[in-house]
Amino acid sequence: MSRRSLDSEDPVEDRDRKAEHIELALEERMQNRERFFDRLRFDHVALPELDRSHIDLSTEFLDKPLRAPLLISCMTGGTEEAARINRNLARAAESTGVALGVGSQRKALEDPSQVSTFQVRDQAPGIPLLANLGAVQLNYGYGIEECRRAVEMIEADALVFHLNALQEAIQPEGQCDFSSLLPKIGTVAAELEVPVIAKEIGCGLDRATGEALVAQGVRILDSAGRGGTSWARIEGARSADASLGDLFGEWGIPTPTAIRELREIPGVTVIGSGGLRTGLHAAKALALGADLVGMAQPFLEPALESPEAVGERIRRILTELEVAMFCLGCRRPSDLRLQPLREVHP
Ligand code: FNR
Repeated sequence: MSRRSLDSEDPVEDRDRKAEHIELALEERMQNRERFFDRLRFDHVALPELDRSHIDLSTEFLDKPLRAPLLISCMTGGTEEAARINRNLARAAESTGVALGVGSQRKALEDPSQVSTFQVRDQAPGIPLLANLGAVQLNYGYGIEECRRAVEMIEADALVFHLNALQEAIQPEGQCDFSSLLPKIGTVAAELEVPVIAKEIGCGLDRATGEALVAQGVRILDSAGRGGTSWARIEGARSADASLGDLFGEWGIPTPTAIRELREIPGVTVIGSGGLRTGLHAAKALALGADLVGMAQPFLEPALESPEAVGERIRRILTELEVAMFCLGCRRPSDLRLQPLREVHP
């Protein structure tokens, strides 16, 4: 495979890149080796003093009700296959009452023919829908106007800025001017009509960066920590020499650590994501302090199939979360916050 960047300039190459990302993200070797959530254990409660049917997963996000504290993390757009994935995700998210993000809309801002591949509001009129751009674009000609257009393009409830320094660094043509982005993110957060969310893409949002973003007016932080999809490995595999990606394959802040640290920042909504693969993982992320949890890769395969397949996956995850809550005596997701987690060493 040739060397290409996340946001390469050539639209044909861009289509190939999106397809390669999807194909590679499905491969097990692109996942982190360490599974941090499997090393954490709850203390079982033998007598939960709770009727399982009284468990209520519902919550609120971006002033909209959710039937469960779950977000399908930002993934794709820009090709026919990506359009189908987005539609399948949207229909399933709407029918199960969970939130959804789309992938980077940069190319659609530059190529109107791609716009429709991101537009899923008709399939998901009631749920929180998140627009997406790389924050680094603010150093490559983008400003509030482009951010507004991304939000309007999909009638989004918030704009997600992804912070992907490692991914850009592994790509030979990656866009690596990450200087002075903070005040630019702050300007967008102040001027945009909807909230700004900041996320990593699998290396974790560190506490200092989280605090700096909050000082700039960002109120929703997504850990997107290490433990799941490794973008260093994916970009390494797409380049002529995979060794740089391999070297940094396990780089980043483990998701449980990132969630704990972000939770300590006053007044923020914390999305816990990065390597969550089951509802039991979700329960642990909520116990560590997340307000809601995000997953990307687990929804990719079913999204290639049908909305029903995605819906089935979501419902299974929510059943797993509910069983964990039942065996801990927790009626609401927020009750999980009181539950201790023990570190076990395999
Ligand atoms: C992603 N991710 C992502 N994130 C983002 O902010 N903008 C994007 O365009 C994409 N694109 C993308 C494509 C594919 C195929 C995948 C699997 C993921 C990153 C994603 O939102 C998430 O942060 C990471 O994948 C970590 O979560 P998981 O996969 O370990 O649950």
